[in-house]
Amino acid sequence: MTDTLTIRRPDDWHVHLRDGAMLQAVARHTARQFARAIVMPNLTPPVTTVAAAESYRQRIMAALPEGTGFTPLMTCYLTDNTDPAEVRRGFESGVFTACKLYPAGATTNSDSGVTDVDNIRGVLEVMAEIGMVLCVHGEVTHADIDIFDREAVFIERVLAPLLKDLPGLKVVFEHITTEDAVQFVESAPDNVAATITPQHLHINRNAMLVGGMRPHAYCLPVAKREKHRLALRRAATSGSHKFFLGTDSAPHAREAKESACGCAGIFNAPYALESYLAVFEEEGQIGHFQGFASEHGPGFYGLPLNEERVTLVREECEVPAAIEAAGTQLVPFHAGETLRWRFQP
Ligand code: DOR
Ligand code: ZN
Repeated sequence: MTDTLTIRRPDDWHVHLRDGAMLQAVARHTARQFARAIVMPNLTPPVTTVAAAESYRQRIMAALPEGTGFTPLMTCYLTDNTDPAEVRRGFESGVFTACKLYPAGATTNSDSGVTDVDNIRGVLEVMAEIGMVLCVHGEVTHADIDIFDREAVFIERVLAPLLKDLPGLKVVFEHITTEDAVQFVESAPDNVAATITPQHLHINRNAMLVGGMRPHAYCLPVAKREKHRLALRRAATSGSHKFFLGTDSAPHAREAKESACGCAGIFNAPYALESYLAVFEEEGQIGHFQGFASEHGPGFYGLPLNEERVTLVREECEVPAAIEAAGTQLVPFHAGETLRWRFQP
């Protein structure tokens, strides 16, 4: 039985680092485990310009101790009015790594998102031309679509037609939650990939609703039924280069989660690698962990592999019930549980 696992330092291809006091509190958790991270732009106001992304990148670096070897990869929040020239300039100058498509109203701070992909056709054409990645929150937001069907309907109504129209566009279907999404990505060409969160590998929708409403298991897209979780576990641990690590760590103050209208988001950054590794071990696929965590993402983005190594040790790792942050508390994913591996900083 392996007691230590040493792999290339992983990257997180989808994270919310927030801003202000919350950024100060959470950035170090991501920087401790990951070399790079795709940083989501859904601040208030959203990061829609090169200047805003540059200044946000500086605030992230300032929130970390001097000399932390961590690189935030910045994204541009697309709106109906995004200027294709701004996107091109941001990418060519190395400020923007990707653009983020939030369908308007899909999730936290998505009100300025895109109301119809036809409105960003010019931006998408430029992205296809320059080889820039589009990160997609894949849910339709129409009131007549059941929340558990939002992702599957998005594939049919938005994603499939979009890729038919722009077959060369590089798309990351983010935080996928369904067997439908797994099958779509598997059968798509190599310019389409997906990230998978730890929570969607560990929990199904019962975790949110059985025995009481559990706001700390609520995120968007919501966890689905068990057959979808099993499909995600198969995909993540299969060794396929189309699937890679993206935590979607999304901190919200405890009181904002434990509320009559609780915020969507699971804070999983502090024990992300331990959480993912548990899944690979349970599936008998530890040998595929490095690919998922450290190789498939850079391969897709066309970025170099990290040369540094990190080690996880088979040791009990107790996850605290809460973590003090920004004058409040954050309840981490797996709060109060004991995980079987421990990351060695
Ligand atoms: O659960 C989520 N939380 N899903 C998202 O798409 C956004 C995120 C957040 O920013 O809180
Ligand atoms: Zn997210």
